[in-house]
Amino acid sequence: MGRERAFRTREGRLQSWLPLRLPPHRASSSTLAGAYPFLSPPPPPVDRAFVGTDALTGERFAFDPWDLYAAGALTNPNVLLAGVIGQGKSALAKSLAIRSIAYGRRVYVPADPKGEWAVVADAVGGTVVRLAAGSATRINPLDAASSDPVTAHGQRLRLLTALAEATLGRPLGPPEHSAVDAALRAAVIACGDRQVTIPDVAATLAEPDRDSASADGTTVLERTADGRDLLHAIRRLIRGDLAGLFDGPSTVTVDQDTPMLVLDLSALDDEPLAIAMTCAAGWVESAIVAPGTGPAWVIYDEAWRVLRLEPLVRRMQAQWKLARAYGLANMLILHRLSDLDAVGDAGSRARSLAAGLLADCSTRIVYRQESDQVATAVAALGLSTTERDVLTALPRGTGLWSMPGRSYVVHHLLHPDELAVLDTDQAFRFATADPTGGSPC
Ligand SMILES: Nc1ncnc2c1ncn2[C@@H]1O[C@H](COP(=O)(O)OP(=O)(O)O)[C@@H](O)[C@H]1O
Ligand SMILES: [Mg+2]
Repeated sequence: MGRERAFRTREGRLQSWLPLRLPPHRASSSTLAGAYPFLSPPPPPVDRAFVGTDALTGERFAFDPWDLYAAGALTNPNVLLAGVIGQGKSALAKSLAIRSIAYGRRVYVPADPKGEWAVVADAVGGTVVRLAAGSATRINPLDAASSDPVTAHGQRLRLLTALAEATLGRPLGPPEHSAVDAALRAAVIACGDRQVTIPDVAATLAEPDRDSASADGTTVLERTADGRDLLHAIRRLIRGDLAGLFDGPSTVTVDQDTPMLVLDLSALDDEPLAIAMTCAAGWVESAIVAPGTGPAWVIYDEAWRVLRLEPLVRRMQAQWKLARAYGLANMLILHRLSDLDAVGDAGSRARSLAAGLLADCSTRIVYRQESDQVATAVAALGLSTTERDVLTALPRGTGLWSMPGRSYVVHHLLHPDELAVLDTDQAFRFATADPTGGSPC
């Protein structure tokens, strides 16, 4: 028994304790934060947008990448969000979107492969553009974002190059670059005041301009040969399986005041989806970077699909570089960090582009990971051992938020009204419900 003591509390209960024999230890809060990363960080210095509660302190947790960037707490506003299916990644992204719109942010979803964002856009009075074979909706990927002809030419050229590379599955050679550049210039001149379209470029690729060919030290015959593969690649949009979606003037214009723009690509199969994403990315970009747009989220849900295509990764990276200039915060949603390793071959340029995207995300939110993914996540995100241990035990709706110099475990709280809009389980339940009329599970 020794020095054990006991006493009776005011309520009459008997309590006992052993005196603590450790010498008292004093340290600064920053030292303690290093030793016990979850104990000390103060909440992020913002009061909007509400996310939920800090799982360890119970404090209110809010996140606004623009305010945090302005406060010097983030080095960039981009966010990576990873976690196994069904953990609440989309729910978090959607409710952050809805809550951010409430104080004037805009939201763009450049590709919604599962068609689950349309309901969110409808709920906030946003715009949904749905592309499907046979529908009357068409967008012109060559709609230029810039009114400056030189910038507009660059934007269109990047789009055409990405499109051809995505279709051909290889990078373009220098003669092909010259061919597409000349074809685009000739098409723009031929169109005059009208917006140039994909069929206009196909026409000038098929019949190159003599003067521009000789100015470039080549002949019409050689230039036609240089553009042959390109022509086949972009013809797919005119006569192939994607005909009618991208081969004429846009039938929809983006209302600059719309709080949310969603491009629903859920009706497209996997392979055309990638081409459609390439075309759509340019069109959405022109909406995003239009003057006066203000701070906006650009959310790539199910981003692993985009990451399979190097030209798309390249476009994405170029757009991320511009993010700060245009006040954009990109959010990349993946299942696991190893999705980034699926880009290109080891050591390839594509792989380093994907790694660059990760490096450009100052905030990393990790939802539950499969145990075989933990090592990748720890290495990619530089997590501490305490953080590592949390990764496989996180319940649904709870994530590890890692920001420069601080980490949190956060319970994302959903309002019942939000849940009604975001419940993807409900769609699953109805899809798998007993066809004989039994109640959904
Ligand atoms: N924080 C939360 N609280 C309650 N339910 C949630 C929460 N997050 C997600 N859910 C529910 O979990 C289901 C799956 O979420 P979802 O966001 O679609 O997962 P993921 O995108 O990770 O596959 C949805 O039906 C959603 O309503
Ligand atoms: Mg999801």
